Amino acid sequence: YPLPSPPPPLYPEYYALPPDQILPDLTFPPDFLFGWATAAQQYEGAVQTDGRGPSVWDWTSRFPGYIADNTTADIADLGYYLYKQDLARMAALGGNAYSFSVAWSRIFPFGMKGSPVNEKGLKYYEDLVGYSRELGIEPVMTLFHWDTPLALQVEYGGFASPRIIDDYVNYAEVMFRRFNGTIRLWYTFNEPGVFCVQPGFPQNTTLPHGVSAAQYPYVCRRHLVLAHAKVYHLFKELNIQGEISYKNDDYLGIAWRRGRKEDEEAVKRHQAYYIGFFADPIHLTGDWPELVKAELPPDLLPRFSADEVELIKGTADFFAIDAYREDLISAPPGGIDACLRNRSHPAWPECVSKKDYDSSPYGWGIGEFAEPSMDWLHNSWQHIRPLLQRLNDMYPTTGGIYLTEFGFAEPHENEKPYLHQAIQDPARTHLLLSYLGEILKGIVEDGIPIKGVFAWSSVDNWEWNTGFKARFGNQFVDYSHPTLKRTFKRSAIEMSQFWKSHRAQA
Ligand code: NOJ
Repeated sequence: YPLPSPPPPLYPEYYALPPDQILPDLTFPPDFLFGWATAAQQYEGAVQTDGRGPSVWDWTSRFPGYIADNTTADIADLGYYLYKQDLARMAALGGNAYSFSVAWSRIFPFGMKGSPVNEKGLKYYEDLVGYSRELGIEPVMTLFHWDTPLALQVEYGGFASPRIIDDYVNYAEVMFRRFNGTIRLWYTFNEPGVFCVQPGFPQNTTLPHGVSAAQYPYVCRRHLVLAHAKVYHLFKELNIQGEISYKNDDYLGIAWRRGRKEDEEAVKRHQAYYIGFFADPIHLTGDWPELVKAELPPDLLPRFSADEVELIKGTADFFAIDAYREDLISAPPGGIDACLRNRSHPAWPECVSKKDYDSSPYGWGIGEFAEPSMDWLHNSWQHIRPLLQRLNDMYPTTGGIYLTEFGFAEPHENEKPYLHQAIQDPARTHLLLSYLGEILKGIVEDGIPIKGVFAWSSVDNWEWNTGFKARFGNQFVDYSHPTLKRTFKRSAIEMSQFWKSHRAQA
């Protein structure tokens, strides 16, 4: 009987080797940061503890159907109580940096400038930062990771209103003064592009001050960019130690059919409408990308004044990118021009086609690259080195590049909610080790100034609209157990081995 031919290897190259035998001759630079990232809303829980005010997500998660599994972040990972254990576990893995975010509403329960500051909230982060440093883990702080104080949403529509700018700057000032000297890297905003278009978010539908749903994403961008720029200048004026930037969303875009004129043009459009929407003004010009300005009228996308352009230009010390996956971009069916003529709702108007990661059997992180005909992209990790190279060419900075998040979650139907299944962790182990291998090669062989990497996430956590259904952790969290017990997955162990065998020896 003819035997079936063996299936192609699913996990080639890196995964087949033990971590210390992958690229054995290459070493990370001496001051390289290696660690994990979490965010307050997804990790802390304790949302009504010690005077924390509610965030928008505390509110919206209570609407039935808004979160895939109808959960809230009230408890999440109880990081508010378990952070010491979590820091110790990261230290055991060899991590020398930890990226966390501050819940604005823990510091200002009512959000607003002039409203009371909550000392207990500040104390929590002081303890976290202190313990982290005690363990030799460099704490890295994100000031805003999507959890707008509900009071500001109710009062004036959050980022729909220019009033958010002063309130945010005031909050940042409190954090700068309190934490000066303890934080090496600061981020003003997490993934602004995603934040301003979060689908179905009530901020997009219940809008004050005559901001329409179509205008909201652009008005939000404007306020966010101005708030970022003002906070950057404040940081410099106060002479705060360390460096400051913001975390870009992933996708620079790769042409679906390389060399085909209309697909390459679509990539340019995608860049302008995506990473470029923030990175062009902040890193380069102080203004929205030209292509975008040519297509979006001022009543949709408010323009910056000459003074604002000066304020915004060059307000990032380094380039930070969250990179999970890459989009394959082509011209839309019927072509770009026809698309532009026919667009009805311009909230997401770049007029390009993207390969949808949901159509892939592999889930997050591998999706767009699972196109069997495209060998060169068959493994999603292959995008990371060219991506970092391109970003470094497009947005060169003195501070280099940080990969501020990278990670993987299974598609929901493959998700393993049980410990014995989850810890085997083959796909995540493969992907994350492959990323690390590519990054190491990028630094040593290509000379890309990559200064640090942060895996998302140290522990499974509350994945926004997906609730607990997506598990991005390198540690399993047992949500069915009252202690929320953490267990290392294979990916954590192998990443740790890779790092420990490739870090520069003191
Ligand atoms: C990026 C976001 O910053 C983070 O909050 C989210 O959990 C991960 N992507 C995974 O979706």
